[in-house]
Amino acid sequence: MTKIQTGKNTEIVTASKASIRKAADILTRGGLVALPTETVYGLAANALDGKAVAGIYEAKGRPQFNPLIVHVLNEKFAAQYAEMHETARRLADQFWPGPLTMILPLKPESELSKLCSAGLDTIALRVPAHRTMRAVLSECNLPLAAPSANRSGTLTATTPVIVEATLSGHIDMILADGACDVGLESTIIDVSDELKPVILRTGAITSSQISDCLDGRVVEHDTDHKKDGDTIRSPGQLLKHYAPSVPVRINAIDVMPGEALLAFSNDRFMGVRGGGSVKDLPETAYRNLSETGDLNEAASNLFRMLHELDRPEHTAIAVMNIPDNGLGKAMNERLKRASMV
Ligand code: TXA
Ligand code: MG
Repeated sequence: MTKIQTGKNTEIVTASKASIRKAADILTRGGLVALPTETVYGLAANALDGKAVAGIYEAKGRPQFNPLIVHVLNEKFAAQYAEMHETARRLADQFWPGPLTMILPLKPESELSKLCSAGLDTIALRVPAHRTMRAVLSECNLPLAAPSANRSGTLTATTPVIVEATLSGHIDMILADGACDVGLESTIIDVSDELKPVILRTGAITSSQISDCLDGRVVEHDTDHKKDGDTIRSPGQLLKHYAPSVPVRINAIDVMPGEALLAFSNDRFMGVRGGGSVKDLPETAYRNLSETGDLNEAASNLFRMLHELDRPEHTAIAVMNIPDNGLGKAMNERLKRASMV
């Protein structure tokens, strides 16, 4: 198998049996493919492969790790990754496949990369209706993380021409199949608390349709009207960010007794204050985001390793300095936030 070189040549092809197979192959090998859904074009990567998911953030030039929507072929796949409670099943039966995204409790045993959920214990899932997207999902037999296929801060892409204008040169393939039917991103409903469904983003499926489906139950709204669908900023409840329950100490140049170490790259010169080497830290108190200093690898490990080091016996998690370029910017943004709580 040859290694995919993301960001070199972007192949633009119209959807056909052969190109769909090729797209599935690129995705299976960790590459990035822009492809149509019924709402907008999505920028897809294998949701089980952290490095591939990290590639999405890099290609989008997004300085923040916001959680992504994971697309699956059907409700059965959804149940592998999320708790499909009664409310979720009713909504799924009625609106899937289609433009409804549900935020659901993430199953702890789910093998999705933690970067998809940005460390949160919830996951956004959607079963898309578009035939090309469905053909790719079924061909690769993988869950696909896919935010809208536009560079950060640019127009949402509803045609292959718009995708090409901002993402060409950053991804492996654009699978072109005309303009999107809906032309607006999916409705997002947070049903992580089954008893309190909240609409976080309005879209083609309306709150009254949702309410009807749930026997007239009142569905709260927590949206504001941002032009850029990339960020959810809700007046009452800002997008939740993951932070470990023990303190995070950033830009650490040594480790204090009792702390765990989240290293980056070479940690030869890190010591334990008062004497000792980081080599003597127990396995449960030491992780290295990337021994070779690869920022994409580090990003793919960030949330998983923070979770693993988040143990009550640690007084804090000391994090080594991470270069503030490429995905390092998004990592530093998250770590800074976590260090302030
Ligand atoms: O129509 C769509 O939904 C398109 C197509 C490609 O499916 N996708 C899309 O994805 O719009 P994206 O990543 O651009 O928007 C996903 C939104 C983000 O604002 C993110 O913050 C929110 O969903 N989100 C994802 N997971 C979340 C979670 N666990 N909790 C709260 N918000 C979440
Ligand atoms: Mg978006």
